[in-house]
Amino acid sequence: MQRRYDTDALGTRRRRTSSVYSGPVDHKPAQLDLGRLIDRPDGDFSHDGVQQLRQDFTRFMMRYKFGMEEIVTKLSILRDEFEHLHETNPIENISSRLKNPDSILEKMGRKECDSTFESIAEKITDVAGVRVTCSFVSDVYHVFDLLTSQSDVVIVEVRDYITDPKPNGYRSLHALIEVPVYLSDGEVPVLVEVQLRTIAMDFWASLEHKIHYKYREDVPQSLLDGLKDAADTATELDATMERLHAEVKTAGQLSAGLKDELSRGTVALPDDAFVERLKRLGS
Ligand code: GTP
Ligand code: MG
Repeated sequence: MQRRYDTDALGTRRRRTSSVYSGPVDHKPAQLDLGRLIDRPDGDFSHDGVQQLRQDFTRFMMRYKFGMEEIVTKLSILRDEFEHLHETNPIENISSRLKNPDSILEKMGRKECDSTFESIAEKITDVAGVRVTCSFVSDVYHVFDLLTSQSDVVIVEVRDYITDPKPNGYRSLHALIEVPVYLSDGEVPVLVEVQLRTIAMDFWASLEHKIHYKYREDVPQSLLDGLKDAADTATELDATMERLHAEVKTAGQLSAGLKDELSRGTVALPDDAFVERLKRLGS
């Protein structure tokens, strides 16, 4: 979907066609010193400057918070609807987080990001992050479709690390999506990174993250090899669970069919292979 935007001083793009928005925000593009902002004793700011910066930063982060909450609400509605109206629920868990100033600073260095809100908004695309875990790989894509087919959700980028896992074995479906947030002075589209994965992928990713956190850049090769093996095992587990899930669904449909036939008195006896399969599922 092609849209025209203006960028304001907080780096958020405003939809030009919005009839509600009446002009630029009321302060100059901010030169940031987030280090100072989180009380590091460098930079030469007057008290007022720091106060203004603090306010601008809060405003900048608030938009991401609202965008994140919009996405969490959309996902929670889907989860609750499935909970009450369907037999199965594709969403196991929803979590969200805003990047803290320390990690924004760290990533600004890593991404060679200028000290402006515009530059942060452009280069750091995971200020707002939402993570969804599902039981099955098919559910991951199903939830992605349900979320991104909503008319106010714009897909900016998709990285499918399930189809193309990272060399270390990392798998997940990543989507950068834009969602409108309605503020007192108009509508602003906010970028949110959504990561969708199975429970097995999540289990692996959190362990891998912990190991990297502990060893920093120096993870022993034996652990890296072990992680790669574990990633392969998780992939196999996902495939097996998906197959069983499909079989159970099919069995469910067949028994509904059988019920129907029974009620019409035209039932055919289920064949031995089918009975065997049911027995295996039950054991
Ligand atoms: P950053 O890695 O955040 O700099 O962004 P990127 O542009 O490289 O995007 P990418 O899709 O590679 O990763 C985005 C996010 O996915 C990360 O911040 C992590 O939360 C997660 N992620 C990506 N790769 C890995 C991985 O190998 N292990 C784990 N545990 N998480 C990963
Ligand atoms: Mg990365």
